[in-house]
Amino acid sequence: MATTRGRVGLLTGGGDCPWLNAVIRAVVKTAIFQHGFEVVGIEDGYLGLIENRMHVMTTTEVSNILNVGGTILGSCNKADPENFAVLDNGKWTKRDVTDEVLEHCKQWNLDSLIVIGGDGTMSGAGHLISHGLKIIGVPKTIDNDLEGTETTFGHDTAVSIATEALDRVHTTASSHHRVMVVELMGRYAGWLALRAGLASGSDVILIPEIPFDLDVVARMCQKRSTRGKRFTIIAAGEGAAPRGGAMVVDHRDESSPDPIRLGGVAKYLANEIEKRSGLESRSMVLGHVQRGGTPTAYDRILATTLAHHAVELLAAERFGELVVIRKGAIDSVPIASIAGKVRTVALDDPMIRAARGVDTCFGDA
Ligand code: F6P
Repeated sequence: MATTRGRVGLLTGGGDCPWLNAVIRAVVKTAIFQHGFEVVGIEDGYLGLIENRMHVMTTTEVSNILNVGGTILGSCNKADPENFAVLDNGKWTKRDVTDEVLEHCKQWNLDSLIVIGGDGTMSGAGHLISHGLKIIGVPKTIDNDLEGTETTFGHDTAVSIATEALDRVHTTASSHHRVMVVELMGRYAGWLALRAGLASGSDVILIPEIPFDLDVVARMCQKRSTRGKRFTIIAAGEGAAPRGGAMVVDHRDESSPDPIRLGGVAKYLANEIEKRSGLESRSMVLGHVQRGGTPTAYDRILATTLAHHAVELLAAERFGELVVIRKGAIDSVPIASIAGKVRTVALDDPMIRAARGVDTCFGDA
């Protein structure tokens, strides 16, 4: 089919994950084969728009990438057009580079953009929409913390990876009669730790939404020990924090719109639990492995269907919308209504109630 419907720019923003290529593939193929758009791939998320790095994509470029991790377009979780960090005399300063972005879109004749990303990317999209760009969003993040959608693609694969890690730690914890604390990603939301903790039957699940009491956690480990279960598995979200205390910050990255990089809560927990309970404790951080490897079948299907819907919205010129899953069905919401919001776990979430039902401790009682 001749390319007559205009040019759409495509970018992947934020932390990468193995499902991005599945979306890129579906967007490019559907846009070209079904609707006759021309697709321009923007390299490294908003950074490519800022630095004017992009290229016209072909369907050949996206063949054989459905199950390949990462993103063929590259990504960046730092480049925010409104607050772009520039190193000036050894100091990071923020500049508004929106005008450059608009100029580059004009140079490339981009009529519209499809942006694939999480909360940071959608905040950037909200800003660009307010400057007249026509944007459609596709929700991606392993954290599952994007407002407006029940699930984001990428989360399921991260949950599977984390579950497998927790399963594997079970055996060594059991052999050595230890407390094993496994730190999982998720930033300020506990979806990943909650789901992987539930799926692996972790004895303690600690999430940012429920501040923990160290004595309660230590008592749970001792209780298990005296009941003959001489090991305890703890799934801890990186944003979990003690009651009245703060999240553990690993470092600050001043070039990033959100400079906080969490990390270290597992080590802190293992030290404190050992001190309080006398039980030998170890910690491990699963880290970026949660964002690598091949996507689950569920994520591939979700990525392809969400991407397809995004192109349908594009063809119908329904701009400013984020494709979402609501009540189990594909739908869309205005990006402006969700930009800048974080979706956390509700305290009465059925998964929390089910976990409590099987005596899982959340460190709060
Ligand atoms: O948002 C995705 C995520 O993997 C978070 O779970 C984690 O806190 C953060 O990104 C890590 O960021 P970076 O890749 O900059 O280390």
